Amino acid sequence: MPRLSAEKRHPVQLSVNGRTYQAEVEPRMLLSDMLRHTLGLTGTHVGCEHGVCGACTVQIDGAPARACLTLAVQADGADIRTVEGLEPAPGRLSVLQESFRRHHALQCGFCTAGILMSLDHLLRSDPAPSEETLREFLSGHLCRCTGYVPIIAAALDAAKRLRETHPDA
Ligand code: FES
Ligand code: FES
Repeated sequence: MPRLSAEKRHPVQLSVNGRTYQAEVEPRMLLSDMLRHTLGLTGTHVGCEHGVCGACTVQIDGAPARACLTLAVQADGADIRTVEGLEPAPGRLSVLQESFRRHHALQCGFCTAGILMSLDHLLRSDPAPSEETLREFLSGHLCRCTGYVPIIAAALDAAKRLRETHPDA
């Protein structure tokens, strides 16, 4: 990777939720800050800012990643998906989001965007996860409100509904 000047701003181009953005950023700018402050995509939350809580999780090139541990310059050229990109159509909830609503799987909602982005990825790679798999998978996300029980119920319900809707997926 070429050395970057700390003072200089650097051009970054990325695709976020299918839309291309260009910006000049300082080398130290975090991807989470670029998404929230430069692009105005505040659905991605920031909690601990050191990789522990999972609130900032987005998908980078299809895989969940901590936006607080990623520099914006590292994401140059990447395909990013945030919680704003989950809605299948403007104003509509995805199957997973709808299951969270139905099962009251959020209270303050601070952890929710990150959990949704991780679960969205998991349900694509493992359409029928066990409760144990879900609990282990979600151990990388801290939720102070729900006790996780409704989150697991929502994830299991979403997996079932997705299998019924897309039996060949
Ligand atoms: S804000 Fe990124 S893991 Fe906590
Ligand atoms: S719903 Fe409040 S932290 Fe999870």
